Amino acid sequence: MATKAAQIPSTRSTKSAYEEYVNPQWVSLLNPLGLNEEYEHCRGSELYTTHGRRILDFLSGYCVHNPGHNHPYIVEALKDELDKAGPAVLQSHVPELAGALAERLCELAGGGLRKVYFGSSGSEGVEAAIKFARATTGRTGIVYAQNSFHGLTAGALSLMSDEFWREGFGPLLPDFVGVPFNDLAALEKALSTERNAAFIVEPVQAEAGIRLPSRTYLPEAQELCRKYGALFVVDELQTGMFRTGTFLVAHQFELQPDMVVLAKALRGGLVPVGAVLMTDRVYTSVYSSLKRAIVHTSTFSENSLSARRTGHARSARAGKTGSSCAAPGGAVPSPSEARARTF
Ligand SMILES: Cc1ncc(COP(=O)(O)O)c(C=O)c1O
Repeated sequence: MATKAAQIPSTRSTKSAYEEYVNPQWVSLLNPLGLNEEYEHCRGSELYTTHGRRILDFLSGYCVHNPGHNHPYIVEALKDELDKAGPAVLQSHVPELAGALAERLCELAGGGLRKVYFGSSGSEGVEAAIKFARATTGRTGIVYAQNSFHGLTAGALSLMSDEFWREGFGPLLPDFVGVPFNDLAALEKALSTERNAAFIVEPVQAEAGIRLPSRTYLPEAQELCRKYGALFVVDELQTGMFRTGTFLVAHQFELQPDMVVLAKALRGGLVPVGAVLMTDRVYTSVYSSLKRAIVHTSTFSENSLSARRTGHARSARAGKTGSSCAAPGGAVPSPSEARARTF
């Protein structure tokens, strides 16, 4: 039951206000698809409409609701944090909750990932990874895999080849080079110029239609990065948080990325949070002195609500769904194994 303070006064229905003041095109798109439903409440994987329909949610907010809608642990943690009326977004203290969450994420990720930058979205994490790679290597270029999806801010969009997303927003960042996914020869050609700071890649190309890496692609791509002095960065927004069985897809290929970008399920569907996990080398290149202690940050970075929520989501997830997710599907199959399976 919403409190009075949470109700937004309006002289019209929420839907028509949305139509008039937010995005009428979106409403026009949902209507013919029969998706313009009014939801009363959502729990687990089920959505309940005001007309008494019960809908099974296969979209899951595009890999956001791994623990299910309104998971009781997460709701409880958020309420608890609000009831405490503790420090939030002071911009002048050490947010210990963010520290505890970062420690847990580094433990789960392993390898050389020892520091975490927190933001509020995936695109923001990708933007940070671009800046951090440039600061670490002193190079400007970035190599990306064509048909990938990395977000719609200007830097992240510069890593995407699809004209649908780019049209009308250029010019985007210069010196970014797209190579076909799963094509090591093209990747080597791009990296061998030694002008590129990083190769940024989704280990499974999600929005491109769940395109899987060959068994050798990611380990050899990492090797090529090492050979030509570029960082190896994985965008695990859709695949991370146990989505494919292991905490990261990187674990299935025994990768040691220089940075990993997470968001989506990290937020458990309720409070925005994103994270860039990085090595000490990357951290010390960016935050290299007292003067640069906050050289890359944002207002809601490290806020207590998202840190608290995420910590609880993690226990709910790692304890139950994380391990059960590994059982039926196993690990990421090779493209030929995937073709052979019946879905
Ligand atoms: C792989 C991947 N990276 C980055 C993003 C951008 O994340 P956000 O929408 O939180 O900015 C998305 C969003 O769908 C994504 O799928």
